[in-house]
Amino acid sequence: MKKISLTGIKPTGTPHLGNFLGAIRPALSLTETYDTVYFIADYHALTTVHDGAEMNDNIHKVAATWLALGLDPQKGLFYKQSDIPEIFELSWALSCFTPKGFMNRAHAYKAKVEANRAENQDFDTNINMGLYCYPCLMDADILMFNADVVPVGKDQKQHVEFARDIAIRFNKQYGKDVFTVPEPLIQETTDVIPGLDGRKMSKSYDNTIEIFLEPKALKKKIGRIVTNSQGIEEKKDPDTCNVFRLYRLFATPEQTSDLAEHYRAGGMGWGYAKGELQKVLEETFGAAREKYNDLMAHPERIDEILHAGAEKARPIAREHMDRVRELLGVGKSF
Ligand code: TRP
Repeated sequence: MKKISLTGIKPTGTPHLGNFLGAIRPALSLTETYDTVYFIADYHALTTVHDGAEMNDNIHKVAATWLALGLDPQKGLFYKQSDIPEIFELSWALSCFTPKGFMNRAHAYKAKVEANRAENQDFDTNINMGLYCYPCLMDADILMFNADVVPVGKDQKQHVEFARDIAIRFNKQYGKDVFTVPEPLIQETTDVIPGLDGRKMSKSYDNTIEIFLEPKALKKKIGRIVTNSQGIEEKKDPDTCNVFRLYRLFATPEQTSDLAEHYRAGGMGWGYAKGELQKVLEETFGAAREKYNDLMAHPERIDEILHAGAEKARPIAREHMDRVRELLGVGKSF
């Protein structure tokens, strides 16, 4: 039997090339080796997204992105967290086994507290209980489906370690292997994915290139990539150029060495290099963009896919939750 790999996707904004290379592509590559569980973590997004229309749009965008890029909803599980109420029931139960000190140390909460302190504010200013309890909900996400591995970025490692700890405590308390103890699977991206200004691509730096921009908008974005002020005739160094650093992440080895040649030979302007980047992004995402646009034009189809996924996932959750309820002594659901 294959091991189970589970990962949550928080619907906060439009996915960009950094998300694709750092999270989406590596997660999708696991489908051969693992039984995969992917879900839209909408109630995690609720800690920050407090506009219904925006939430709904984010859910559709993120689900359509993964589907367009190759997630096969027939294989494994693909659902929306809020469609499985048992997860929230489990989250409460697990919170009763979670030392409060863990939450005090959780990195996202701690970072906010520190920012408040630095500004001489009361340290809990603008921190809601959802943010504070965020890791407990993640524990329930992970333990409900008995995940063996949880592919996440480095920033989420601590949260998976909490889930391990809680699973071990619970199993010990009730004398049963009721929860699989999960392992984080950390995705080490060797390359930093440069944004428009050369810093790491990130929404917080406002330097992102979204995956499915239309050609005109993509051209405009690429136009904003910062280059040096060398003239056309000058010989150029590809390795220090933001355009090239992005290009090579998507181009074949031949394309990469061809463009590097052009840089080194001189006689190539930035317009040419940017045009080549646009071409290679178009080759990579053009067909998927059509699928994405088609899904976004029919959000009811996305909802159908997510609901079908929840129908598959929910009986598994119900059965597991019933086992937990019996152990807790509250009795099965009826
Ligand atoms: N917190 C994760 C993030 O911000 C998303 C997430 C929610 C998740 N539940 C999860 C990831 C369970 C892995 C497993 O990216």
